[in-house]
Amino acid sequence: MATAEVPHSYFPFSLFLLLSSTLPSSYSATAEKEGTPRSLHSEILRDEAVARLNELGKVSDAVGYLERTFMSPASVRAGILIREWMEDAGLRTWVDSMGNLHGRVEGMNTSAQALLIGSHMDTVVDAGIFDGSLGIISAISALKVLESNGKLGELKRPVEVIAFSDEEGVRFQSTFLGSAAVAGVLPVTALNISDKSGVTVQDVLMGNAIEITEESLLEMKYDPASVWGYVELHIEQGPVLEWIGFPLAVVKGIAGQTRLKVTVRGSQGHAGTVPMSMRRDPMAAAAELIVLLEGLCKRPREFLLDCGNCNEYTLESLSTSLVCTVGEISTWPSASNVIPGQVTFTVDLRAIDDVGREAVVYELSNQIYKICDRRSVSCIIERKHDANAVICDQELSTRLQSAAYTAVHRMMGEIHEEVPVLMSGAGHDAMAISHLTKVGMLFVRCRGGISHSPEEHVLDDDVWAAGIALLSFLESHM
Ligand code: GLV
Ligand code: MN
Ligand code: MN
Repeated sequence: MATAEVPHSYFPFSLFLLLSSTLPSSYSATAEKEGTPRSLHSEILRDEAVARLNELGKVSDAVGYLERTFMSPASVRAGILIREWMEDAGLRTWVDSMGNLHGRVEGMNTSAQALLIGSHMDTVVDAGIFDGSLGIISAISALKVLESNGKLGELKRPVEVIAFSDEEGVRFQSTFLGSAAVAGVLPVTALNISDKSGVTVQDVLMGNAIEITEESLLEMKYDPASVWGYVELHIEQGPVLEWIGFPLAVVKGIAGQTRLKVTVRGSQGHAGTVPMSMRRDPMAAAAELIVLLEGLCKRPREFLLDCGNCNEYTLESLSTSLVCTVGEISTWPSASNVIPGQVTFTVDLRAIDDVGREAVVYELSNQIYKICDRRSVSCIIERKHDANAVICDQELSTRLQSAAYTAVHRMMGEIHEEVPVLMSGAGHDAMAISHLTKVGMLFVRCRGGISHSPEEHVLDDDVWAAGIALLSFLESHM
């Protein structure tokens, strides 16, 4: 393993910082006592965890690729499997009013503040098998090791694993339905959001025998006083760990995000008869808007000349961290010989600086309206989702850094590197849970930094490292 400088401009969100703090010597002592890979529970933390990830990766609503959206039939089947695995690890399980699956062990002191460990069980369309699932499976595996050693009851605080029902927001275009409800920040209006077929969040829950009402949603909020903190382990979804050759990292913070839906309406007509000069073509307008977005997000300084509350820090932060994507576009009536009447597209916009992100949304909206006026088409911009950037808790991060160091040390013997610290450009349930309690995250290396793709891959030994790190973290609660 080699440490090396990563050029900041190379990876927008991978501004990793190597923490200079000295790692506690007690971890070296543990490593010497237990240092051989044989003693590291590879059958549970690696072999079984990898087998479970593969099994879960086959639970899909689609044939030939992985797709599991909020409360879909495959999500329900995935929940049944995960529940069995939670119970196999000695956890008491239940499903809540938003379809989140919980597995809890009380430890020695039922009234102590609980440690929550979670990630999501939904996926994007044509997904990889590790995004979300790795965090759930690793947590269950680490607890299963404690159970098999007869130590589960020795935890000094309750530990609860939560498999959240929705983080990707694919079905309802509103992320964190599950974790936001637990944190008490999901508005009751979320129950009335509909998917493309007109089915609402409430309908889909009712259809799965979950009686959700506005009251039961409000009651889902955990009492902050009952929670000690939240930990999430997730694949990096970027290339830095592979680049520097280290399996684990601590997450310093998570970029804020905004999702928009832009609807452009023009004049539907015959492709052969309407002269170019007389068209009000929403498709051509949408194309111009998308190129505008690309330019703004590549060169924010050029567009934000009058940037309200922005200062130099904001502009610099936007220059290195702003990323924008149009991932979905649909047209009506969508035929080759018809000038469309309507085009709708999504915008996903992320930045570390919340003031800067707000300024970009404002500028983008102004420019969109100007272009639509010039082209005599109408534009509607709907703000579908907002999540502010989150900074992970320092104390929790230091503990996770120690746990990651211990894991790598236990697996590889003497190491001289420090555990890298990364920013996350991807969103995580930790963002929603940060409204409830302090959060900390670990990242796990993935091949080529690829995610949201069937090419997503994590080495079996890195799954193992993840499990050992969580186990070591749990042991610090004994
Ligand atoms: C979740 O994967 C996101 O960042 O979109
Ligand atoms: Mn994802
Ligand atoms: Mn994820």
